[in-house]
Amino acid sequence: MGGYVLAIDQGTTSTRAIVFDGDMHVAGKGQKEFTQIYPRSGWVEHDPEEIWDSVVSTIHMALRDAGIAAKDVAALGITNQRETVVVWERETGRPIQNAIVWQDRRTASYCDNLKRQDLERVFTRKTGLILDPYFSGTKLSWMLANVKGARARAARGDLCFGTIDTFLIWRLTGGKSFVTDATNASRTLMYNIAENAWDEDLLDILRVPSAMLPEVKDCAADFGMVDADIFGAEIPILGVAGDQQAATIGQACFAPGMLKSTYGTGCFALLNTGADMVRSKNRLLTTIAYRLNGETTYALEGSIFIAGAAVQWLRDGLRIIGSAAESNSLAEKADPTQEVYLVPAFTGLGAPHWDAKARGAIFGLTRNSGPAELSRAALEAVCYQTRDLLDAMQKDWKNAGDDTVLRVDGGMVASDWTMQRLADLLDAPVDRPIILETTALGAAWLAGSRAGVWPDKEGFSATWKRDRRFEPDMDEKLRAAKLKGWKSAVRRTLSEG
Ligand code: G3P
Repeated sequence: MGGYVLAIDQGTTSTRAIVFDGDMHVAGKGQKEFTQIYPRSGWVEHDPEEIWDSVVSTIHMALRDAGIAAKDVAALGITNQRETVVVWERETGRPIQNAIVWQDRRTASYCDNLKRQDLERVFTRKTGLILDPYFSGTKLSWMLANVKGARARAARGDLCFGTIDTFLIWRLTGGKSFVTDATNASRTLMYNIAENAWDEDLLDILRVPSAMLPEVKDCAADFGMVDADIFGAEIPILGVAGDQQAATIGQACFAPGMLKSTYGTGCFALLNTGADMVRSKNRLLTTIAYRLNGETTYALEGSIFIAGAAVQWLRDGLRIIGSAAESNSLAEKADPTQEVYLVPAFTGLGAPHWDAKARGAIFGLTRNSGPAELSRAALEAVCYQTRDLLDAMQKDWKNAGDDTVLRVDGGMVASDWTMQRLADLLDAPVDRPIILETTALGAAWLAGSRAGVWPDKEGFSATWKRDRRFEPDMDEKLRAAKLKGWKSAVRRTLSEG
């Protein structure tokens, strides 16, 4: 008793709460989807109140499912969709407008404007990021400019800015804690990752008052106490990390050179580079993997915006498959003589192209192309894009080596066909772990180890177990031809500039 750790995984399309027992096994779960708001083409919003309600209800569900009460929980860890921006009133806790989600492209021309002033170099040097609407800074600046009176109120200290973690902690602690962790801060375009501090120069450029920014802590730290009124007992919040960093931790990628890729709505590959802040020459991001005991570990990150979302599009948009799982059985049956390529640039292209204006395209259709070929094209697109990221990582960091093994997680990795194709196209082994709840597990480990009820880094790493290794098994000529076809499809999809 007492070894239970609760994790909240507040993702882009759903909120999950998971109770782990003292042996780090899942003891109970709750999950709830919430509304995706698309006010205009390219805009994506969430209602922070709906997110908050989903967090409270999924925690209740998970506790009930595990047959325990809040008093039995030793610690809470939080992980979240990154970059999404919430601004709320310090006095009332009320958001001043909907959250602007990471996928939202409304600040594309603002980013272009900053680039024309030759400011990308400055942002990249200090934050490791790129000037793209993906990150929080330009979204926050947009809110301050477009919500009446917001900038003046922010300067007076009446408004608070947060990524989702900060907003949830504020609510959970009844407004007592206004904090975030270094990984979430590293995605805002306002945080200097070398100095580990908010950067005054960048705040000036973006016209963001520092009075509205939270305190930045290590990933395992004292983030405050959940108010006893909410779940019937206080729970200490002891771990926080952005979801991709939490997955890196959950996959036990603690040593430099270790690499994970998570296939959810999008796909995010992170390569641990240790204390080295590797500067990418190939448009990857330099980001904070985690900060523990004041020591920062960095990562190179490749971000792809559409992965599982392409399969959702086949199901909900085109309606040519009934379920996500069906895409796998169809892909297996696809005609091998047809080379159909889908470039899923539905919301632009992320790394390594960073083309906010590109839009999706399909190439190679014939009279015989059908649901099977399109399913295969959607699944292969995820593999090709992962290959592009890994190629860029290898160019950027010599230590990445040729003996890379990719640890994978997320919804899509359940498909053996996709994982085999991934290994084939990467020409590298792919490891699928037994525990696929890696994101929640990472957040839980941060909290559980800090509480002293779970093992330390070494002990935790030793518990990571492989379910299956997929070894590459594709003819070299075929692989080369397929990769060439993909590159040509991407070239033809890029916008003019
Ligand atoms: O950077 C965005 C990422 O954190 C979103 O992840 O799993 O919510 O789609 P996910």
